Order: sequence, then C-alpha cells, then structure tokens
Amino acid sequence: MFNSIRTKLTVTYLALILVVMALTSFFLLNILEQYYLSYHFETMQRAGNLVAEFSSGYMKESPDIGTVSTLAEDFARQIGSRVIITDHRQRVVGDSLRVGGGLLNSLLNRDEISRALEGEVGQSVQFSQQSNQWVMQIAVPIISENTILGSVFISSSLNHVYQILKDIRRFLGVATAVAILLAAFLGALFAHHITVPIELMTQATENMARGDLNQRVPVQSNDEIGRLAIQFNHMSSRMQEMTRQLKDFVANASHEMRTPLTSLNIMVKSLKEYTLDVKEQKEFLSDIDMELERLMHLVENLLDLTRIDRVSMDDTMQSADIVPAVAATLEMLKKRAETEGILLQYSVQPEASPVYISAHQIKQILFNLVDNAIKYTPAGGTIIVALYNEGEELALSVTDTGYGIPTEHKDKIFERFYRIDKARSREQGGTGLGLAIVKEIVIRHGGKIRVEDGEGGQGSRFILTIPLARAIA
Ligand SMILES: Nc1ncnc2c1ncn2[C@@H]1O[C@H](COP(=O)(O)OP(=O)(O)OP(=O)(O)O)[C@@H](O)[C@H]1O
Ligand SMILES: [Mg+2]
Repeated sequence: MFNSIRTKLTVTYLALILVVMALTSFFLLNILEQYYLSYHFETMQRAGNLVAEFSSGYMKESPDIGTVSTLAEDFARQIGSRVIITDHRQRVVGDSLRVGGGLLNSLLNRDEISRALEGEVGQSVQFSQQSNQWVMQIAVPIISENTILGSVFISSSLNHVYQILKDIRRFLGVATAVAILLAAFLGALFAHHITVPIELMTQATENMARGDLNQRVPVQSNDEIGRLAIQFNHMSSRMQEMTRQLKDFVANASHEMRTPLTSLNIMVKSLKEYTLDVKEQKEFLSDIDMELERLMHLVENLLDLTRIDRVSMDDTMQSADIVPAVAATLEMLKKRAETEGILLQYSVQPEASPVYISAHQIKQILFNLVDNAIKYTPAGGTIIVALYNEGEELALSVTDTGYGIPTEHKDKIFERFYRIDKARSREQGGTGLGLAIVKEIVIRHGGKIRVEDGEGGQGSRFILTIPLARAIA
C-alpha cells in the first residue's frame, strides 16, 4: 500500500499543504495581531491626549470631582472604554464608572500611570480576570505650561480584535481543509494518470515474459509515460518480428537440409537393399558424396551467418592493411575461374587504407562475390574485381559478363535462402546464403552494398563500400 506511487504522491501533497498552511497561518495571524494592537493603541492614545487637553483646565489645586467625572463619562461614552483621570499624586479625581466599583478619591497605583506622570505614555495589554477578556490600558500625562498636572487612564476591551483574529483563524482552518481535500482528489487523479499506464505496461511485460509477445499498450499522453508506451509498443513489435524471422530462418534451414537428406536416405537404402554392380555402386557413392558436400556447404554457411550474428563489433574490427589478404585470395580465385574458362582480372589500389575489418571477413566477402560471378557466368566470360578508395570509403566492385540479375530480383537476392533460379542454383550447390552473409558483414561494418547491371547492360556488378577507419575515428 505504502509502496505505490499513488500513496507516496498523495501523502507528499498533503504534507506540503499542511506545512505551507501552518506557516502561513502562523505568520499571518502574528502580523495581524501586531497590526490591530498598534492601531488600537494609537486610537486610544489619541483619545487620551484629547481627554488630557480638555481636562487640563480643570486640574487646579483641588479639582472638582463631579465636573471631571462628567468629562470622563462623556469621553468614555464616545470611545466605549473606561476613562479615569488622576491628579499628579495618582489620586483618582474623575472616573467614568460612577456606580459600583468607582475608584474616586482612591490612589490608583499602576505602572502606566507612574509612567504618564513622568511625561511618557504608559501602555499594557493583559487578561482581565474580572471581565474575563483581554484589555489594553494606556495612560497619558495631563500637561499645562510644562507642568504635569495628572494623567488620563483608559482601559479598553480588545474583544473585537481577538474576535477578528479568531474569525481569520477559522477561515484559514477551513481553507486548509478545502486545500487538503482538493489536493487529495487531484493527487489521486494525477497518480491514477501515471500509475494506470505503468500497471498496464507491467502486465504486458509479464505476458511477454510468459511468452505471449503480441502485446500493445495504449498511448494516452505525449509526456514521458506516453513516450515509454510508444517505445514499449515499438519494442514489442520488433521482438515479434525478430522471433518471426528466427522461426522462418529455422524453417528454411530445415527445409534446405531435407532435400539432400532425403536423397541420401534413398541412396543409402538402395545400396543396402539391392545388389548392384561395381559401376552402379560407384555412381551412387559419388552422388552421395555430392549431397554430403552440399550439406556441408549449407551447414558452413549457416554457421558463418550465426557467427556474424553473435560477434560484436569490438571483437573483430581492427585497423588492418587488407591489400595483401585481398591479393592472395584473388590469386587463388583466378585459378578457379580459369578452370571454368573464365578470365578474372583484378586491380587492388589502396595503399594501406585502414578499415575496421578482419582479414577473414574481407576474404569471406570476396570469396562469396567472386564465387557467384564464376557460377553465374558461362565459359568465355570475364570477371573484373577492383578495390579502390572513394572519398572516405573503401570500395570493392565485382563485375561479370554472366546471366545478369533481372531488376525485380535485385533487392531480394540479399535475403537469406533467396535464389533466382532454384534449379540452376541447386545444381551448382547453391544455398542462397552467400549474399546474405556478405550483406550482414558489410552492414556490421557500417557499409552498404548494391547490385547493378554489368558493363554495357550485360552481366552484373556488385559494389560495396565500407567507411575508412579515419572517417570513423
Ligand atoms: N553474379 C551473379 N550473376 C547472376 N546472378 C547472381 C549473381 N550473384 C548472385 N546471383 C543470384 O542471386 C542468388 C543468391 O546468391 P547467393 O550467393 O546468396 O546464393 P547462392 O550463390 O545460390 O548460394 P551459395 O552462395 O551458398 O553457394 C543466386 O542464387 C543467383 O540466382
Ligand atoms: Mg553465392
């Protein structure tokens, strides 16, 4: 439960909102409290000064308590607070509260009043047990002709200030609750948006692991998740395609082997069952020999193909001077062509042009291409092989004057097991794998191969290019 992205996201959201709201509330309420208190203080001070000004005229040696009290009462009514006036010895000479609790004639020994009598403004905020509320008390001096005659003491309720603060606190509380609900809802929605595709992909991967490769997930957005979904579908179809190719390959390979194996089977059985004369026996044996050769050729080619599949680039690539290897191979092939009545000419030009390819692989390429040229060129023909530099590439071309390749087959002949004329190719012992091997090697080396018509539209020309080592580095 706590391991799901959904829970983690939601909890994070809620924690964030709680912290932010708590901090905001704390500072906001503090600032507002300070503001309201200082505003209240200023108002009271102003009122106090006004009372002081008015009463200064009455503050003679022995002020008339009745008059002063009336004055205090008048102001008290206006500002809604209790107003007390004392003489310079802190004796109360006027009190707005007349009935019950009046302080007339008593000494009011308070810090605020002492400070006022020193010419300053006294102030305090405290909780009054008596009236069960917060109150602010201020005292200002009554001054006339530079003498302090007494003080005005005002005590006012702070109820309204704390009522406002309480309202704001409640409002913030409600806002926090709403924000949390909203965040929980949005968080869940957002998490849903993220986790559902991931869960679908997990499910699909599990199915794939179980062997069902036909898996597609819906692409619902174009963010990271959406791109992952696209890549997933891409991978899944690639894997399907690859398994299909692999199956085809195995099927083709088995099929190719079945023909020679069937002939071998029949011939061996015949040898066993029938009594044949020596001449017939020899004929059978040479047929068996031929079929075995064919099988071995097929298996060798299959092995070659799988080896290219498995070997990685770094293993085989080496900067090598391939010219001597090429020349030696061509010299050998030239002799073979001669026995078929075909002339093989070659020119090997590049002086030590390094390419990342092993001598073995370049020999494989040459051997397959020239072998084809010999096989598919009737006696009296010519084969021309050229190795040269072309820009930043090494190029190899093999041109023959043979049967040529019809346009519609030009792409297909590089496919595995593809032969234009099955009968003729089989007669020659062909497997249809030679060009597939060549192409595979060339592609592994970052190169390209193509086929076009030969000189004057007769025969064919195979051209391949491989980037030079200095072009890659
Ligand atoms: N130089 C060529 N001239 C005419 N046709 C060619 C030439 N090279 C290849 N082909 C055609 O392309 C087909 C595929 O060639 P590839 O080398 O892959 O197989 P193969 O020669 O039949 O068998 P293997 O190479 O195993 O002996 C050949 O069967 C042939 O029909
Ligand atoms: Mg071939």
